[in-house]
Amino acid sequence: MRPVIIAANWKMHTVPAEAAELASTIARRTAEAEVIRVICPPFVALAGVRDALAGTGVAVGAQNVHHERSGAYTGEVSAPMLEGLATWVIVGHSERRRDAGETDEQINGKIRRAREAGLRVILCVGEQLAEREAGRAETVVRGQLAGALTGVAGDRAIEGGAETDANGAWLAIAYEPVWAIGTGRNASGADAAAMAVVVRDALAGIGLGGDADAIPVLYGGSVTAANIGEFLAEPAIDGALVGGASLKPDEMAGIVARAGLTARARAAVPS
Ligand code: PGA
Repeated sequence: MRPVIIAANWKMHTVPAEAAELASTIARRTAEAEVIRVICPPFVALAGVRDALAGTGVAVGAQNVHHERSGAYTGEVSAPMLEGLATWVIVGHSERRRDAGETDEQINGKIRRAREAGLRVILCVGEQLAEREAGRAETVVRGQLAGALTGVAGDRAIEGGAETDANGAWLAIAYEPVWAIGTGRNASGADAAAMAVVVRDALAGIGLGGDADAIPVLYGGSVTAANIGEFLAEPAIDGALVGGASLKPDEMAGIVARAGLTARARAAVPS
């Protein structure tokens, strides 16, 4: 059975002092043991958020990682540097593809470095509006998955594991249509679910080893407490990557409470 995951992407918001406090508040307001919760603050807030979340069961994630282990890369952060600070990392977010010009090849390197460092990866994929309108959404997403994951080591288990274990899975895919991110215009649950099926089919073809059906697929793009139910009602969707709403404790409380219902319902009816 796939885990239900709610990951918070705080993007370039919060200074360290407020990040620690916000993380504590969110942890307290989202106490759902069946849901894997991950908070991804800015790099400079990782240590404080880690300390604030100690003992809460909420995992810490970074928002990015460099594709090389070390080197002359001013201002960058490598996977080994994240040791002890984060157990998850977001890779390939569309804002980084857009603003930092990240290529599929670099994203592939980031995933390899994350794997070597024992980090769990949330790989973001998603099409632009023009691509969807041209009927190319599926092709784009398949291409992003192949580019990011081809040749990446097969077995999905991570030795040791984090305190919040994703059933041993090291990889989750976040399907985030670019036109839905930060726009208040979310995809429909049915469209997101259809793409989740495409994602699993593509993963099976890439040959990561193991069972592609076991890899969680999240939806991201203007998720709120009001619309999370539409996505989690879809059996193909296993959670959400939440941006703007993840900075609001009330929203996170609603989103994770809804995710808890789904996690319990799925546990009661083994697939
Ligand atoms: P949003 O961001 O929820 O603010 O649309 C989602 C994301 O970028 O991961």
